[in-house]
Amino acid sequence: MDKLIIEGGLPLRGRVRVSGSKNAALPILFASILLDSPVTYTNVPNLRDIHTTLKLLNILGLEAGFESGAAEVKPAGQLNPEAPYDLVKTMRASVLCLGPLLARLGEARVALPGGCAIGARPVNLHLTALEKMGARFDLDSGYIEGKTSGLHGAKIVFDQVTVGGTENLLMAAALAKGETILENAAREPEVVDLANFLIACGAKITGHGTPVIRIEGVESLSGCRYPIMSDRIEAGTYLVAAAMTGGELTLENCPCEAMDAVFSKLREMGVVIDEAPDGLVVRRGGELKCMDVTTIPYPGFPTDMQAQIMALMCVSSGAGTIRETIFENRFMHVQELMRMGADIKVSSQSAFVRGVTRLTGAPVMASDLRASASLVVAGLTAHGVTEVQRIYHLDRGYEAMEVKLQALGARIKRAKE
Ligand code: EPZ
Repeated sequence: MDKLIIEGGLPLRGRVRVSGSKNAALPILFASILLDSPVTYTNVPNLRDIHTTLKLLNILGLEAGFESGAAEVKPAGQLNPEAPYDLVKTMRASVLCLGPLLARLGEARVALPGGCAIGARPVNLHLTALEKMGARFDLDSGYIEGKTSGLHGAKIVFDQVTVGGTENLLMAAALAKGETILENAAREPEVVDLANFLIACGAKITGHGTPVIRIEGVESLSGCRYPIMSDRIEAGTYLVAAAMTGGELTLENCPCEAMDAVFSKLREMGVVIDEAPDGLVVRRGGELKCMDVTTIPYPGFPTDMQAQIMALMCVSSGAGTIRETIFENRFMHVQELMRMGADIKVSSQSAFVRGVTRLTGAPVMASDLRASASLVVAGLTAHGVTEVQRIYHLDRGYEAMEVKLQALGARIKRAKE
């Protein structure tokens, strides 16, 4: 396993290009299952999860390949309905093949993803909604077995906002008979990107980006050439890194229109963020101060930025409370930040952070994707050397992070653990 060795204390300066969004690319790649003809995606990030998804698409019977920032997927004869456990256990988003397989093939056998570091992450909302469209499910030795004689439109009200659930249902409804209405639907920009992709393939969808989405099923969908949106979470991570190290960065390809809540909170803390014609310029400005943060579904503050803003608050003045309302166990980074000298007290779903003057470098352990990112940005500002272990978590969602940071002046290198 690899680790990152970081010598902290150097300000980041320069320009960084934001990569394509992992959380937009994954559902859009699974939507390839719905298509009658080849599709090309551009601005695809080179990430572990992308390669896992392409591997799974090949197992399902498609021809999927990746070549320097672009992916191509071609239908190749008979689809195979089974998504095997050894792949699904490495990437929970594999459950997003469920809706497309049922819509296209009338059957699916998908390993139950199981929990992960940040929570149980059940898929009950996906299954209940798909049952309303005419699917039936059995649970057989750790696999979800789904069957349908043909999906039909339905009115679905989600008990709680679910990004993956909304995405699975969008894909299932695109080829179903009749109209499907999704209420209390997720409004995340990545859900909108998926809807825009499906529309580019011939789907009839309105209301995406609002809590009520309407989908009129069509006979078939055909491939196109589609650019994946930029990654608002990667961009937010670099904003935090610039603020923490006291440098100045220009972010190219930043999806500013999808980042209001992040910009607003960082500006409240004292971060200077200016939208310029050739990119987004960010620098610390004066002293940073802690603010209260609550993670909620889009357009609220994103849970995927919670660990990163906590790291920033650890070295800001005053104190603030972070409430995590989306996942039940998303404070795994707290213990590791405390090893670096952070002052954090957790009780139930809240973390009370009191800023300290400096963090101190230490060996720390990554536990999940965004926790790893928060440990890296903490290491960039800490006094001394930080070793972040098990960074395969980081490689799932950040394209060449140490390479991008080296180009910005950070003293960071990858080594074998
Ligand atoms: C997506 O996960 C993202 N992953 C997550 O990003 C992100 O944190 C999350 O949305 C919330 O924004 C991808 O897009 C690949 P949910 P998803 O369904 O779809 C509960 C990252 O770091 N729930 O919106 O799994 C669930 O347990 C990752 O990039 C049910 O109870 O999230 C959670 O508490 C982490 N039953 C809440 O809803 C269900 O059937 C939100 O989950 C589905 C979800």
